[in-house]
Amino acid sequence: MKRIKVELPGHVYPVWIGNGILSRAADLMARAGFDSPPLVVSNRRVLKLHGDVLLSSLERTFGRVAVIRIPDGEEYKNHATLQRIYEGLFRTRADRHSWIAAFGGGVIGDVAGFAAATFLRGIRYVGIPTTLLAQVDSSVGGKVGINAPQGKNLIGAFHQPSAVLSDTAVLGTLAKREIASGLYEIIKCAAIRSTSLLSYLERRLDQVLDLEPAAVSHAVAEAVRIKAEVVARDEREGEERMILNFGHTVGHALETATAYRRFTHGEAVAWGMIAAAAISCARGNLTIEEGERLLSLIERVGRLPDLKGLASKDVWAALQRDKKFRSGDIRMVLLPGLGNTEIVRGLEPRYMRRFLSGFLSFGEG
Ligand SMILES: NC(=O)c1ccc[n+]([C@@H]2O[C@H](COP(=O)([O-])OP(=O)(O)OC[C@H]3O[C@@H](n4cnc5c(N)ncnc54)[C@H](O)[C@@H]3O)[C@@H](O)[C@H]2O)c1
Repeated sequence: MKRIKVELPGHVYPVWIGNGILSRAADLMARAGFDSPPLVVSNRRVLKLHGDVLLSSLERTFGRVAVIRIPDGEEYKNHATLQRIYEGLFRTRADRHSWIAAFGGGVIGDVAGFAAATFLRGIRYVGIPTTLLAQVDSSVGGKVGINAPQGKNLIGAFHQPSAVLSDTAVLGTLAKREIASGLYEIIKCAAIRSTSLLSYLERRLDQVLDLEPAAVSHAVAEAVRIKAEVVARDEREGEERMILNFGHTVGHALETATAYRRFTHGEAVAWGMIAAAAISCARGNLTIEEGERLLSLIERVGRLPDLKGLASKDVWAALQRDKKFRSGDIRMVLLPGLGNTEIVRGLEPRYMRRFLSGFLSFGEG
Protein backbone atom coordinates (compact mmCIF):
# COMPACT_ATOMS: atom_id res chain seq x y z
CA MET A 1 0.00 0.00 0.00
CA LYS A 2 1.16 3.52 -0.77
CA ARG A 3 0.54 6.37 1.63
CA ILE A 4 0.68 9.97 0.49
CA LYS A 5 0.39 12.87 2.90
CA VAL A 6 -1.56 15.95 1.88
CA GLU A 7 -0.05 18.74 3.96
CA LEU A 8 -2.06 21.90 4.28
CA PRO A 9 -1.56 24.65 6.81
CA GLY A 10 -3.32 23.31 9.91
CA HIS A 11 -4.55 20.08 8.33
CA VAL A 12 -2.64 17.00 7.23
CA TYR A 13 -4.36 13.91 5.90
CA PRO A 14 -3.33 10.59 4.39
CA VAL A 15 -4.31 9.15 1.03
CA TRP A 16 -4.00 5.35 1.09
CA ILE A 17 -3.72 3.69 -2.30
CA GLY A 18 -3.53 -0.04 -2.90
CA ASN A 19 -5.05 -3.10 -4.49
CA GLY A 20 -7.65 -4.75 -2.21
CA ILE A 21 -7.35 -2.30 0.69
CA LEU A 22 -11.11 -1.78 1.01
CA SER A 23 -11.29 -4.83 3.27
CA ARG A 24 -8.83 -3.06 5.61
CA ALA A 25 -10.78 0.21 5.62
CA ALA A 26 -11.84 0.05 9.27
CA ASP A 27 -8.35 -0.83 10.54
CA LEU A 28 -6.84 2.07 8.67
CA MET A 29 -9.49 4.45 9.90
CA ALA A 30 -9.26 3.24 13.49
CA ARG A 31 -5.52 3.83 13.35
CA ALA A 32 -6.19 7.31 11.98
CA GLY A 33 -8.19 8.06 15.12
CA PHE A 34 -11.81 7.22 14.27
CA ASP A 35 -13.54 5.41 17.10
CA SER A 36 -17.21 5.45 16.09
CA PRO A 37 -19.05 4.15 13.00
CA PRO A 38 -19.37 6.51 10.03
CA LEU A 39 -22.51 7.33 8.14
CA VAL A 40 -21.86 5.83 4.71
CA VAL A 41 -23.16 7.83 1.73
CA SER A 42 -23.27 5.85 -1.50
CA ASN A 43 -25.53 4.69 -4.32
CA ARG A 44 -27.19 1.39 -5.20
CA ARG A 45 -24.73 0.46 -7.92
CA VAL A 46 -21.57 0.98 -5.88
CA LEU A 47 -23.11 -0.71 -2.82
CA LYS A 48 -24.19 -3.72 -4.86
CA LEU A 49 -20.73 -4.12 -6.39
CA HIS A 50 -18.48 -3.32 -3.45
CA GLY A 51 -20.64 -2.50 -0.43
CA ASP A 52 -20.24 -5.86 1.33
CA VAL A 53 -16.47 -5.57 1.53
CA LEU A 54 -16.60 -2.06 3.00
CA LEU A 55 -19.53 -2.58 5.33
CA SER A 56 -18.28 -5.84 6.78
CA SER A 57 -14.92 -4.25 7.52
CA LEU A 58 -16.56 -1.22 9.17
CA GLU A 59 -19.07 -3.30 11.15
CA ARG A 60 -16.41 -5.66 12.48
CA THR A 61 -14.57 -2.72 13.99
CA PHE A 62 -17.20 -0.10 14.75
CA GLY A 63 -20.50 -1.99 15.09
CA ARG A 64 -23.67 -1.20 13.15
CA VAL A 65 -23.20 1.26 10.30
CA ALA A 66 -25.98 3.41 8.84
CA VAL A 67 -26.09 3.84 5.06
CA ILE A 68 -27.69 6.65 3.08
CA ARG A 69 -28.38 5.69 -0.53
CA ILE A 70 -28.60 8.53 -2.98
CA PRO A 71 -29.67 8.28 -6.63
CA ASP A 72 -26.96 7.68 -9.21
CA GLY A 73 -26.06 10.39 -11.72
CA GLU A 74 -24.76 13.90 -12.19
CA GLU A 75 -28.34 15.19 -12.34
CA TYR A 76 -28.72 14.21 -8.67
CA LYS A 77 -25.75 16.27 -7.48
CA ASN A 78 -28.27 18.78 -6.26
CA HIS A 79 -30.00 20.35 -3.34
CA ALA A 80 -32.62 17.59 -2.96
CA THR A 81 -29.89 14.96 -2.55
CA LEU A 82 -28.06 17.14 -0.06
CA GLN A 83 -31.27 17.43 1.93
CA ARG A 84 -31.62 13.65 1.90
CA ILE A 85 -28.15 13.33 3.42
CA TYR A 86 -28.93 15.90 6.12
CA GLU A 87 -32.11 13.97 6.97
CA GLY A 88 -30.09 10.75 7.31
CA LEU A 89 -27.68 12.56 9.61
CA PHE A 90 -30.50 13.89 11.80
CA ARG A 91 -32.23 10.48 11.81
CA THR A 92 -29.10 8.80 13.14
CA ARG A 93 -28.66 11.58 15.70
CA ALA A 94 -25.36 12.65 14.25
CA ASP A 95 -23.43 15.16 16.29
CA ARG A 96 -20.26 17.18 15.82
CA HIS A 97 -18.12 14.08 16.38
CA SER A 98 -19.90 12.06 13.69
CA TRP A 99 -18.25 11.46 10.35
CA ILE A 100 -19.28 10.58 6.83
CA ALA A 101 -17.69 8.00 4.54
CA ALA A 102 -18.27 9.12 0.95
CA PHE A 103 -18.24 5.85 -1.01
CA GLY A 104 -18.53 6.26 -4.78
CA GLY A 105 -17.46 8.35 -7.74
CA GLY A 106 -16.94 12.10 -7.95
CA VAL A 107 -20.65 12.84 -7.64
CA ILE A 108 -20.90 11.10 -4.27
CA GLY A 109 -17.63 12.67 -3.08
CA ASP A 110 -18.75 16.17 -4.01
CA VAL A 111 -22.24 16.04 -2.50
CA ALA A 112 -21.37 13.99 0.60
CA GLY A 113 -18.31 16.19 1.19
CA PHE A 114 -20.51 19.28 0.95
CA ALA A 115 -22.97 17.76 3.43
CA ALA A 116 -19.99 17.23 5.78
CA ALA A 117 -18.81 20.81 5.20
CA THR A 118 -22.15 22.29 6.17
CA PHE A 119 -23.80 19.93 8.70
CA LEU A 120 -23.45 21.53 12.15
CA ARG A 121 -20.98 23.95 10.50
CA GLY A 122 -18.70 21.12 9.52
CA ILE A 123 -18.05 17.51 10.48
CA ARG A 124 -15.30 15.16 9.32
CA TYR A 125 -15.49 12.96 6.25
CA VAL A 126 -13.40 10.27 4.64
CA GLY A 127 -13.33 9.82 0.87
CA ILE A 128 -13.53 6.29 -0.49
CA PRO A 129 -13.45 7.05 -4.21
CA THR A 130 -14.45 4.22 -6.55
CA THR A 131 -13.87 5.69 -10.02
CA LEU A 132 -10.45 6.39 -11.45
CA LEU A 133 -11.39 10.04 -11.96
CA ALA A 134 -12.39 10.37 -8.32
CA GLN A 135 -9.24 8.57 -7.11
CA VAL A 136 -6.86 10.81 -9.03
CA ASP A 137 -8.74 14.07 -8.99
CA SER A 138 -11.93 14.87 -7.14
CA SER A 139 -11.18 13.09 -3.84
CA VAL A 140 -8.05 15.16 -3.18
CA GLY A 141 -8.06 18.89 -2.68
CA GLY A 142 -11.21 19.57 -0.70
CA LYS A 143 -13.46 21.09 -3.34
CA VAL A 144 -16.97 19.93 -2.53
CA GLY A 145 -20.33 21.07 -3.77
CA ILE A 146 -23.46 20.64 -5.80
CA ASN A 147 -24.87 21.87 -9.09
CA ALA A 148 -27.43 24.67 -9.32
CA PRO A 149 -30.12 24.99 -12.01
CA GLN A 150 -27.95 27.88 -13.27
CA GLY A 151 -24.86 25.73 -13.79
CA LYS A 152 -22.48 23.04 -12.58
CA ASN A 153 -20.60 23.22 -9.28
CA LEU A 154 -21.88 26.71 -8.50
CA ILE A 155 -22.62 26.01 -4.84
CA GLY A 156 -19.87 24.59 -2.69
CA ALA A 157 -17.08 24.95 -0.21
CA PHE A 158 -13.50 24.02 0.50
CA HIS A 159 -13.62 21.23 3.07
CA GLN A 160 -10.72 18.83 3.27
CA PRO A 161 -11.30 15.15 4.00
CA SER A 162 -9.75 13.56 7.08
CA ALA A 163 -8.44 10.68 4.97
CA VAL A 164 -8.87 9.17 1.51
CA LEU A 165 -8.83 5.44 0.80
CA SER A 166 -8.42 4.41 -2.85
CA ASP A 167 -8.69 0.71 -3.56
CA THR A 168 -7.62 0.18 -7.17
CA ALA A 169 -9.28 -3.27 -7.22
CA VAL A 170 -12.76 -1.67 -7.28
CA LEU A 171 -11.91 -0.08 -10.63
CA GLY A 172 -12.30 -3.54 -12.20
CA THR A 173 -16.07 -3.08 -12.42
CA LEU A 174 -15.89 0.30 -14.14
CA ALA A 175 -16.82 0.78 -17.80
CA LYS A 176 -13.77 1.15 -20.09
CA ARG A 177 -14.85 4.68 -20.94
CA GLU A 178 -14.74 5.65 -17.25
CA ILE A 179 -11.22 4.24 -16.95
CA ALA A 180 -10.15 6.28 -19.96
CA SER A 181 -11.76 9.37 -18.48
CA GLY A 182 -9.66 9.09 -15.31
CA LEU A 183 -6.55 8.27 -17.28
CA TYR A 184 -6.76 11.59 -19.14
CA GLU A 185 -6.56 13.37 -15.77
CA ILE A 186 -3.45 11.33 -14.95
CA ILE A 187 -1.95 12.37 -18.29
CA LYS A 188 -2.80 15.97 -17.39
CA CYS A 189 -0.85 15.69 -14.13
CA ALA A 190 2.12 14.28 -16.05
CA ALA A 191 1.94 17.00 -18.70
CA ILE A 192 2.00 19.85 -16.17
CA ARG A 193 4.46 18.48 -13.64
CA SER A 194 6.22 15.22 -14.36
CA THR A 195 8.05 13.98 -17.42
CA SER A 196 8.92 10.85 -15.45
CA LEU A 197 5.21 10.02 -15.05
CA LEU A 198 4.79 10.79 -18.74
CA SER A 199 7.56 8.34 -19.66
CA TYR A 200 6.09 5.76 -17.29
CA LEU A 201 2.70 6.07 -19.00
CA GLU A 202 4.34 5.76 -22.40
CA ARG A 203 5.96 2.50 -21.29
CA ARG A 204 3.11 1.05 -19.23
CA LEU A 205 -0.09 2.50 -20.68
CA ASP A 206 -1.45 -0.92 -21.70
CA GLN A 207 -0.94 -2.30 -18.20
CA VAL A 208 -2.61 0.75 -16.66
CA LEU A 209 -5.57 0.35 -19.05
CA ASP A 210 -5.75 -3.34 -18.12
CA LEU A 211 -5.71 -2.32 -14.45
CA GLU A 212 -2.63 -4.35 -13.70
CA PRO A 213 -2.34 -3.66 -9.92
CA ALA A 214 1.24 -2.37 -9.70
CA ALA A 215 0.90 -0.18 -12.79
CA VAL A 216 -2.42 1.37 -11.85
CA SER A 217 -1.38 1.97 -8.22
CA HIS A 218 1.78 3.71 -9.40
CA ALA A 219 -0.10 5.92 -11.85
CA VAL A 220 -2.80 6.82 -9.29
CA ALA A 221 -0.22 7.53 -6.58
CA GLU A 222 1.89 9.77 -8.83
CA ALA A 223 -1.15 11.77 -9.94
CA VAL A 224 -2.29 12.16 -6.32
CA ARG A 225 1.23 13.22 -5.29
CA ILE A 226 1.23 15.93 -7.95
CA LYS A 227 -2.24 17.18 -7.05
CA ALA A 228 -1.36 17.09 -3.32
CA GLU A 229 1.77 19.18 -3.91
CA VAL A 230 -0.11 21.81 -5.87
CA VAL A 231 -2.99 21.98 -3.39
CA ALA A 232 -0.55 22.19 -0.47
CA ARG A 233 0.87 25.37 -1.95
CA ASP A 234 -2.49 26.88 -2.82
CA GLU A 235 -5.52 25.46 -1.06
CA ARG A 236 -8.05 27.98 -2.31
CA GLU A 237 -7.40 28.20 -6.02
CA GLY A 238 -5.17 31.19 -6.50
CA GLU A 239 -2.56 31.21 -9.29
CA GLU A 240 -0.76 27.99 -8.35
CA ARG A 241 -3.80 25.74 -8.21
CA MET A 242 -4.92 27.10 -11.56
CA ILE A 243 -2.32 24.92 -13.27
CA LEU A 244 -4.55 21.94 -12.50
CA ASN A 245 -6.93 23.51 -14.99
CA PHE A 246 -4.65 22.65 -17.89
CA GLY A 247 -6.97 21.43 -20.65
CA HIS A 248 -10.04 22.60 -18.75
CA THR A 249 -10.62 25.94 -20.51
CA VAL A 250 -11.50 24.47 -23.90
CA GLY A 251 -12.61 21.24 -22.15
CA HIS A 252 -15.33 22.99 -20.14
CA ALA A 253 -16.45 24.93 -23.20
CA LEU A 254 -16.87 21.66 -25.11
CA GLU A 255 -18.86 20.15 -22.24
CA THR A 256 -21.11 23.21 -22.02
CA ALA A 257 -21.61 23.51 -25.77
CA THR A 258 -22.76 19.87 -25.89
CA ALA A 259 -24.89 20.13 -22.73
CA TYR A 260 -22.64 17.55 -21.00
CA ARG A 261 -23.98 14.79 -23.28
CA ARG A 262 -21.25 14.01 -25.77
CA PHE A 263 -18.09 13.82 -23.67
CA THR A 264 -17.20 12.50 -20.27
CA HIS A 265 -15.32 15.11 -18.23
CA GLY A 266 -11.99 13.39 -18.94
CA GLU A 267 -12.66 13.21 -22.68
CA ALA A 268 -13.46 16.92 -22.79
CA VAL A 269 -10.25 17.62 -20.86
CA ALA A 270 -8.32 15.43 -23.32
CA TRP A 271 -9.56 17.59 -26.23
CA GLY A 272 -8.78 20.66 -24.12
CA MET A 273 -5.20 19.44 -23.57
CA ILE A 274 -4.78 18.90 -27.31
CA ALA A 275 -6.02 22.46 -27.88
CA ALA A 276 -3.77 23.95 -25.20
CA ALA A 277 -0.77 22.01 -26.52
CA ALA A 278 -1.51 23.24 -30.06
CA ILE A 279 -1.62 26.86 -28.83
CA SER A 280 1.60 26.28 -26.86
CA CYS A 281 3.26 24.99 -30.06
CA ALA A 282 1.87 27.85 -32.15
CA ARG A 283 3.35 30.37 -29.69
CA GLY A 284 6.69 28.68 -30.09
CA ASN A 285 6.95 27.45 -26.51
CA LEU A 286 6.33 23.75 -26.79
CA THR A 287 8.22 21.97 -29.53
CA ILE A 288 6.25 20.10 -32.20
CA GLU A 289 7.90 16.86 -30.99
CA GLU A 290 6.70 17.49 -27.42
CA GLY A 291 3.19 18.34 -28.65
CA GLU A 292 3.12 15.13 -30.68
CA ARG A 293 4.33 13.13 -27.71
CA LEU A 294 1.37 14.32 -25.65
CA LEU A 295 -1.07 13.83 -28.54
CA SER A 296 0.05 10.29 -29.22
CA LEU A 297 -0.27 9.29 -25.56
CA ILE A 298 -3.81 10.68 -25.51
CA GLU A 299 -4.60 8.83 -28.74
CA ARG A 300 -3.33 5.55 -27.33
CA VAL A 301 -5.92 5.68 -24.52
CA GLY A 302 -8.72 5.28 -27.06
CA ARG A 303 -10.75 7.10 -29.63
CA LEU A 304 -12.17 10.38 -28.37
CA PRO A 305 -15.74 11.29 -29.39
CA ASP A 306 -15.25 13.58 -32.38
CA LEU A 307 -16.05 17.28 -32.56
CA LYS A 308 -18.39 16.92 -35.54
CA GLY A 309 -21.23 19.40 -35.82
CA LEU A 310 -19.95 21.67 -33.05
CA ALA A 311 -20.37 25.29 -34.10
CA SER A 312 -17.38 27.42 -33.20
CA LYS A 313 -19.69 30.28 -32.19
CA ASP A 314 -21.28 28.03 -29.51
CA VAL A 315 -17.91 26.90 -28.16
CA TRP A 316 -16.70 30.50 -28.19
CA ALA A 317 -19.82 31.64 -26.31
CA ALA A 318 -19.26 28.90 -23.71
CA LEU A 319 -15.60 29.87 -23.39
CA GLN A 320 -16.48 33.48 -22.68
CA ARG A 321 -18.84 32.48 -19.88
CA ASP A 322 -16.05 30.51 -18.20
CA LYS A 323 -14.92 32.00 -14.91
CA LYS A 324 -11.30 31.64 -16.02
CA PHE A 325 -11.96 34.13 -18.81
CA ARG A 326 -12.46 36.93 -16.34
CA SER A 327 -13.71 40.24 -17.71
CA GLY A 328 -12.33 39.71 -21.17
CA ASP A 329 -8.87 38.86 -19.84
CA ILE A 330 -8.38 35.54 -21.58
CA ARG A 331 -6.15 33.40 -19.39
CA MET A 332 -5.05 29.91 -20.20
CA VAL A 333 -2.69 27.35 -18.76
CA LEU A 334 -0.13 26.56 -21.45
CA LEU A 335 2.99 24.40 -21.58
CA PRO A 336 6.36 26.08 -22.04
CA GLY A 337 7.67 22.51 -22.17
CA LEU A 338 6.38 19.13 -21.06
CA GLY A 339 6.28 18.94 -17.27
CA ASN A 340 6.04 22.75 -16.94
CA THR A 341 3.28 25.30 -17.05
CA GLU A 342 2.75 28.98 -17.58
CA ILE A 343 -0.41 30.99 -17.12
CA VAL A 344 -0.80 33.18 -20.15
CA ARG A 345 -2.88 36.33 -19.90
CA GLY A 346 -4.36 38.60 -22.48
CA LEU A 347 -4.80 36.14 -25.32
CA GLU A 348 -6.32 38.00 -28.26
CA PRO A 349 -10.04 37.18 -28.70
CA ARG A 350 -9.61 37.31 -32.51
CA TYR A 351 -6.77 34.81 -32.31
CA MET A 352 -8.76 32.49 -30.03
CA ARG A 353 -11.83 32.55 -32.29
CA ARG A 354 -9.75 31.73 -35.32
CA PHE A 355 -7.92 29.01 -33.46
CA LEU A 356 -11.19 27.46 -32.28
CA SER A 357 -12.70 27.24 -35.70
CA GLY A 358 -9.56 25.54 -37.08
CA PHE A 359 -9.41 23.24 -34.07
CA LEU A 360 -13.02 22.14 -34.38
CA SER A 361 -12.56 21.19 -38.02
CA PHE A 362 -9.37 19.29 -37.12
CA GLY A 363 -11.40 17.30 -34.55
CA GLU A 364 -14.25 16.38 -36.85
CA GLY A 365 -12.81 12.89 -37.17
N1 LIG B 1 -14.26 18.16 -6.41
C1 LIG B 1 -13.39 18.15 -7.38
O1 LIG B 1 -12.26 18.63 -7.25
C2 LIG B 1 -13.78 17.51 -8.68
C3 LIG B 1 -12.82 17.30 -9.68
C4 LIG B 1 -13.22 16.63 -10.84
C5 LIG B 1 -14.54 16.22 -10.99
N2 LIG B 1 -15.45 16.47 -10.00
C6 LIG B 1 -16.84 16.02 -10.11
O2 LIG B 1 -16.84 14.59 -10.20
C7 LIG B 1 -18.03 14.20 -10.89
C8 LIG B 1 -17.66 13.12 -11.88
O3 LIG B 1 -17.12 12.02 -11.18
P1 LIG B 1 -17.10 10.55 -11.80
O4 LIG B 1 -16.53 10.60 -13.15
O5 LIG B 1 -16.51 9.67 -10.78
O6 LIG B 1 -18.65 10.25 -12.04
P2 LIG B 1 -19.77 9.51 -11.16
O7 LIG B 1 -19.59 9.76 -9.74
O8 LIG B 1 -21.08 9.89 -11.76
O9 LIG B 1 -19.48 7.97 -11.47
C9 LIG B 1 -19.65 7.48 -12.78
C10 LIG B 1 -20.53 6.21 -12.77
O10 LIG B 1 -19.75 5.12 -12.29
C11 LIG B 1 -20.45 4.44 -11.26
N3 LIG B 1 -19.44 3.82 -10.42
C12 LIG B 1 -18.70 4.37 -9.43
N4 LIG B 1 -17.79 3.49 -9.00
C13 LIG B 1 -17.94 2.37 -9.71
C14 LIG B 1 -17.28 1.12 -9.74
N5 LIG B 1 -16.22 0.87 -8.96
N6 LIG B 1 -17.72 0.18 -10.62
C15 LIG B 1 -18.76 0.43 -11.46
N7 LIG B 1 -19.41 1.60 -11.49
C16 LIG B 1 -19.01 2.56 -10.62
C17 LIG B 1 -21.27 5.52 -10.62
O11 LIG B 1 -22.33 4.97 -9.86
C18 LIG B 1 -21.72 6.30 -11.85
O12 LIG B 1 -22.81 5.66 -12.46
C19 LIG B 1 -18.62 15.44 -11.50
O13 LIG B 1 -19.74 15.84 -10.76
C20 LIG B 1 -17.51 16.48 -11.37
O14 LIG B 1 -18.02 17.79 -11.23
C21 LIG B 1 -15.09 17.09 -8.85
